Amino acid sequence: ETVKAAGTLKSDQPGAVINKYVYGQFSEHLGAGIYGGTWVGEDSPIPNTRGIRNDVVAALKDLHVPLIRWPGGCFADEYHWRDGIGPRDKRPSRKNNWWGGSPESNHFGTHEFFDFAEQVGADAYVSINVGSSNPTEMREWIEYMTSPGDDTLAQERRSNGRDKPYKVPVIGIGNETWGCGGAMTPEYYSSEYRRFQEFYHKGADNSGARIAVGPSGDDTNWTEVIMKNIGNRRMDGISLHYYTLPTGNWDKKGPSINFDQQAWVDTFDRTLRLDGYIQKHIAVMDKYDPEKRVALYVDEWGTWYDVEPGTNPGHLYQLNTLRDGVLAAANFNVFHKYPERVQMTAIAQTINVLQAVILTDGDKMAMTPTYHAFKMYVPFQDATMIPLDITAPGFTLGGKTIPSFNASAAKAKDGHVYIGIANMNPVDGLNLTIDLGALKAKGVSGQVLTAPKMDSLNRPGAKPEVVPVDYKGGKVKGSTLTLDIPSKSVVVVRLD
Ligand code: AHR
Repeated sequence: ETVKAAGTLKSDQPGAVINKYVYGQFSEHLGAGIYGGTWVGEDSPIPNTRGIRNDVVAALKDLHVPLIRWPGGCFADEYHWRDGIGPRDKRPSRKNNWWGGSPESNHFGTHEFFDFAEQVGADAYVSINVGSSNPTEMREWIEYMTSPGDDTLAQERRSNGRDKPYKVPVIGIGNETWGCGGAMTPEYYSSEYRRFQEFYHKGADNSGARIAVGPSGDDTNWTEVIMKNIGNRRMDGISLHYYTLPTGNWDKKGPSINFDQQAWVDTFDRTLRLDGYIQKHIAVMDKYDPEKRVALYVDEWGTWYDVEPGTNPGHLYQLNTLRDGVLAAANFNVFHKYPERVQMTAIAQTINVLQAVILTDGDKMAMTPTYHAFKMYVPFQDATMIPLDITAPGFTLGGKTIPSFNASAAKAKDGHVYIGIANMNPVDGLNLTIDLGALKAKGVSGQVLTAPKMDSLNRPGAKPEVVPVDYKGGKVKGSTLTLDIPSKSVVVVRLD
């Protein structure tokens, strides 16, 4: 069957610019995210540039990754930057207490991270240890990274091989301080935040955006206390973390493959809750920051399933299927609704961890369905949002109803209007009719991402089952666009 829906593109009422940082990545020292997935070392037979995998860098460059958040996550609050500078063979080995107790060689430290970010062409988002450290360690790390002067820390950076200061456009003052980052109350953390930020010395050398730890899920009390106690001058952003667990149960989250239609519906039902949570947090922010100075950084989002059987439970390794690709696009369409506040997001996590865009196995690499959704949405980076009025019929299973699709539109920097659609309906195709209003278009082209099964997937070393292909289902007649879209798919079209 085919679901029918009609809508209107309000090209005469453009919204704000969708910040390219909405397409950010999160890379933590966790499992094979860094070691094996990003860093293989200079002596590895796997092709690398100064120890960093060439295949991974090339794939991420193609995604135009705008920003990478590092070194954690929970890991950040036990990280001491001095462990990760200087000759590698002299760096201490530590226990990664949060993530499987695995050894942390510190071979990937500050210089290696910036080398990685610079090879990819991404900006750096550095997370500071607030939970188990102090403002002095933060200040010294910042000075080490960004000081252009002749001070001892800048000289030390130079003696370790980097003359020019690094750019740190975003700094996170803590991570999940309500949990692994220190189990603090919002009142206690607000005071800690104020103390730390006072020693950040935002100015010419450090112009970075200061991001305070925000809520998890729908915890508006956290947002309220932070906004009230910190105010809109001492911070530039507040984070929001939300993970999609098909069952909503941390003890039994559900598998990443071999799931049924009900699990598909449950997963989309859970992921779309983020929309309502964002609205609630924005309402609180509007109260304390009517000027909209403070951005909302959804700097951890994505699916979290049971780990692949046989893998270390602390390494959060899961497979990535068509469901993840469609889910990524559905989240992009949600983020695009709030361009004034949602100025950055980071999927958890880039490589081999949770909803990864890349999976590796030795020298093999796979671009996951999530990767392809990111790639198809590249034109939305720094594009101007255009409202698209459309109501989706519901898809119901097991007493749960999800919208059968969601969509968003924007005018890209190349001058073209793009429309992205996530068809979350696992059964039915979609026939969309869009009134383009005053917009003049002669044709439509694009790509579609779909596959035969809900859990079709791409694994390192195997033929990929989910790859985008040219989209042929669009037509423009006068000011009407019609799109025929297969079930369980992502479609991004350009109006020509
Ligand atoms: O992404 C995995 C973990 O999830 C992060 O380290 C932490 O911030 C969150 O709880």
